[in-house]
Amino acid sequence: MNDGTGLEQASQMVAAATAEITAAATPAALEDVRVKYLGRRGRLTLAMRELGVLDPETRRQAGATLNAAKEAITAALAEAAERLGRAALEQRLAAERADVTLPVDYGGGGRIHPISQTIDEIVAIFGEMGFVVAEGPHIEEDFYNFTALNIPPEHPARQEHDTFYLPERPDGTRRLLRTHTSPVQIRTMLAQQPPIRIIVPGRTFRADHDATHSPMFHQVEGLVIDRSTHMGHLKGCLIEFCRTFFAVDDLPVRFRPSYFPFTEPSAEVDIGCSRAAGRLEIGAGGDWLEILGSGMVHPKVLQNCGIDPTQYQGFAFGMGIERVAMLKYGTPDLRTFYESDLRWLRYYGFLPLDIPSLVRGPLVGVGAA
Ligand code: DAH
Repeated sequence: MNDGTGLEQASQMVAAATAEITAAATPAALEDVRVKYLGRRGRLTLAMRELGVLDPETRRQAGATLNAAKEAITAALAEAAERLGRAALEQRLAAERADVTLPVDYGGGGRIHPISQTIDEIVAIFGEMGFVVAEGPHIEEDFYNFTALNIPPEHPARQEHDTFYLPERPDGTRRLLRTHTSPVQIRTMLAQQPPIRIIVPGRTFRADHDATHSPMFHQVEGLVIDRSTHMGHLKGCLIEFCRTFFAVDDLPVRFRPSYFPFTEPSAEVDIGCSRAAGRLEIGAGGDWLEILGSGMVHPKVLQNCGIDPTQYQGFAFGMGIERVAMLKYGTPDLRTFYESDLRWLRYYGFLPLDIPSLVRGPLVGVGAA
C-alpha cells in the first residue's frame, strides 16, 4: 500500500492477472492463477489484509479499489472458465463423433433369446394400445395367487395348478411359487384406483415337465378396469393383438365359452390355422389353435380388491409366452428354450439391434407342426 490508496498496485495486479488468465490453456492453469491472486495467501487477499493498518479514510478508498480489482479478476476467471469449457466440449464432440452410416459390428454374435424377443413384441403391441407394464414377486402368498382370485381353499382349480409350495411357516401357512401371472392383477387393483390398463409379462412355475410343459415358464397377463368396459372391448383388443402379433391382417379369431374362477363370462381365444400336409400354418385354413384365456373380471374379484363392481368392470386375459413364441417362430420343442445351447440360440435368436416395432412388423406367421 505504498501510494496510500493502492490504486496503482491494484491496476497492475489486474493487468498481470488478466494476462495470465488469457494465457491459461487448461482448467488447472486457470486454477493456479486464481490461487495466486485470490487464494488464501494470494496477492490480492494479502493486500486486502493490510487494509487494517490504514487510517479510516485511506482504508475506505483502498478497500473500494481492491474490491473492484477482485471483481475484475473474478469476472475474467469466470469468462475464461466458460471459454475453456466450451473448447473442451467442442473437442469432445469432434473426438467422439460416431459415423452412424458405418455397418454394424455385432461383436461376436450375441443373440436375443426368443422368449425375450417375444415379450418385447407383446409389450410393444399392448404399449401402443395404452397398457403399461406391471410386475410382481415370483414367491407369492396363497391369498394373491388363489384366494383373492376367487379360488378358495378346496377349490378344484387348485389341483390343476401343480403348485410348488415353500415350507410351512409357524402359523401353518405356506408361500408358493406363483402358478400364473394373475396375482399381479390383485396386487395392482389393491394398490391403485381404476382406470387400470396393465400388461404383466413374467415367470411362472408349475410341477410339470414334458415336451410342452416346463416347471418354469412365462406368461403375460392383461387387465383393464374402467367404468364402462365390456366384452366388446375385450374382443376388439385381443383380435387386434392376435393379428398384429402373427402379422396376418385377416387372421380368423374365435372366442369359445370357457371357465375360469376369476372371470365371468370366460372365453378361450383360438386363432385360425391350417394343418394341411402335416404343416401348421397360422391364418385362414379351417382349423383352430387355442392361444389364450380371457374373460370379464368376476365381481367377487373386484370386491376382494375393494373395487365396487356396480361402478367398475373390466376384462382380463392370460397367455403362455412359450406357446405363442413356438407358434410364431417354429420352435418345435419347449425344452430347447432353456438348454442354453449356443448353436440353437444362433439359429432361433435375434440380432441385438433387431428392435421389435409395429412398423417393421414381425416375421412371417409360420409355425411348426
Ligand atoms: N391364469 C390363467 C392360467 O394360468 C390364465 C388366464 C385366464 C388369465 C383367463 C386371465 C384370464 O386373466 O382372464 O391358466
